[in-house]
Amino acid sequence: MNRYESTTVWNAVDAYFTTRLTPEDAALVAARESGSETTMPNAEVAPNQGAFLGLLAQIAGARRVLEFGTLAGYSTIWFARAVGADGQVVTLELEDQNAEIARANFVRAGLEDRIDVRVGPAAQSAQQLIADQVAPFDLVFIDADKPNNPVYLDAALALTKPGAVIIIDNVVRNGAVTDEDSDDSRVQGVRTVTRDIAIRPDLDATALQTVGVKGWDGLIIARRR
Ligand code: DHB
Ligand code: MG
Repeated sequence: MNRYESTTVWNAVDAYFTTRLTPEDAALVAARESGSETTMPNAEVAPNQGAFLGLLAQIAGARRVLEFGTLAGYSTIWFARAVGADGQVVTLELEDQNAEIARANFVRAGLEDRIDVRVGPAAQSAQQLIADQVAPFDLVFIDADKPNNPVYLDAALALTKPGAVIIIDNVVRNGAVTDEDSDDSRVQGVRTVTRDIAIRPDLDATALQTVGVKGWDGLIIARRR
């Protein structure tokens, strides 16, 4: 199979399982489609990845989720549903424009009471959470600007306790992650955070490659001991 043919098959398989196992309701469809109005069209997670993140949150029994990178709030909705009516999701977004789109999506989904969107550089918003000594988070999803992944990991560690789950999106990037000489700061952000995780004895972690409607990419999944 050439590249085009494999992409077609990946998309068909995603559609097969997504329609059967994790069909989107109107609120998710609206959130996904509004992604095109954000400053980063098409960067939201795939439908089956959103479902996967929601399942991980449920498996972990997460009540408090922290997300770096909101965009239109597609993955945020999956997390907010997973944490339940007593749970909370804090999601950090750089751009006011995106945050406004996301807030409208949360209202449409009836989830605005359990989602706190904070606008500004995510590193600063996270420092504020640390300064405010907010309750620890059970799960952290790092999905913002990739060069800052190491900064976001440090913040995630300051905002969690043992047992917490930390997930990092977009760690494969069509295989570019293996290029140690890459001049792409996003690739280096992934490589540095991978090293940071590797040298920490209190983090168990693995990485999974994904293919599908978002092409070839992957996730790091870590757990604090
Ligand atoms: C990019 C960022 C994302 O979070 C994503 O899911 C896909 C692409 C990007 O920076 O290009
Ligand atoms: Mg992403």
